[in-house]
Amino acid sequence: MAKDKILITGGTGYIGSHTVVELFNAGYEPIIIDNLSNSNIGVLDGIKAITGHTVIYENIDCKDYNSLERFLEKHPEIVAIAHFAASKSVSESVENPLLYYRNNIVSLLNLLQLMPKFNIKNIVFSSSCTVYGQPDKLPVTEESPIKPATSPYGSTKQMCETILQDYAFANKDINVILLRYFNPIGAHPSGEIGELPNGVPNNLLPYITQTAAGIRKELSVFGNDYNTPDGSCIRDYINVVDLAKAHVVALNRVIEGNNKKNIEIFNLGTGSGLSVLEIVTAFEKATGVKLPYKIVGRRPGDIEKVWADTSYANKELGWKATETLEDTLRSAWNWQQKLVEKNLATTNG
Ligand code: WQD
Repeated sequence: MAKDKILITGGTGYIGSHTVVELFNAGYEPIIIDNLSNSNIGVLDGIKAITGHTVIYENIDCKDYNSLERFLEKHPEIVAIAHFAASKSVSESVENPLLYYRNNIVSLLNLLQLMPKFNIKNIVFSSSCTVYGQPDKLPVTEESPIKPATSPYGSTKQMCETILQDYAFANKDINVILLRYFNPIGAHPSGEIGELPNGVPNNLLPYITQTAAGIRKELSVFGNDYNTPDGSCIRDYINVVDLAKAHVVALNRVIEGNNKKNIEIFNLGTGSGLSVLEIVTAFEKATGVKLPYKIVGRRPGDIEKVWADTSYANKELGWKATETLEDTLRSAWNWQQKLVEKNLATTNG
């Protein structure tokens, strides 16, 4: 029996590639389009090493309506889309807002415009806890107020959620699930795929592992004067494989018609918050590697603390993050060491 085909936009990226692996494991046939603007074609080898599958891939930019349409014409069996393709750096979005509005909004609009033409009824969207801004009350639930975004990146996530909500309201036969990620970290336990940021990492974990590998001199901790127990910012760090598995559950839900409304929203976190300094200490304990760091000034746009109330996803999706922080940090370190072995540790310096 032919396997259900799922289109993974941005499927050579960090979360996309881990989701491709879990979809193969679940018996689906994921197919990837990605313009490689922030990822590496070598990821396909990693996916093959883990799953044995050579995944169908084409270099397509979702902003290019015509090539997207031609691709969908070639794959009429697609039953759902998991849309990851987007620019995702908070700091880059502040410097180059138009790149973010064009890339993140136009890509989504093209997909939504083409879905009815190819009878694709289901889309799972990669959203972010960034849409909450700095919550007044913690932990955040899916009903927590959406506050003004603190960056163009955050604005694009909020705008895409609004577009999807209006689209779902106007098209009752379309099923939408918005997945609000907290902070994805770690790598597949095989060490074959993981986070591979271009240039100097913005995010905490890749900066930590590159520091541990001696690629970076020391970690800069952006502020220890916040209103938190140790003064550093608090986030909800979720294992990327746990996150990928949540996408399989969400795709199953809409493909099998088990969704209760034609647009649903879920927080995907662990439900607990950890500070930057706690992550540093936990990394040193999990890996035995001493991590040089210094305290510097706050990073503009950073919020002080956020972590998820995951009870709705736990109950409705029957999904829960299960990987331990220790195993997650070890997986990140294992991946970094493999990158160094393959001399792939950093791209563009
Ligand atoms: C985490 C904490 C920093 C680097 C953003 C987006 C989110 C998602 C993940 C895409 C903060 C501190 C970091 C460093 C540090 N994006 N830090 N030194 O900003 O919480 O979330 O990236 O999927 O949508 O909003 O993640 O990893 O950049 O920062 O002290 O060198 O680590 O101040 O408190 P963030 P992050």
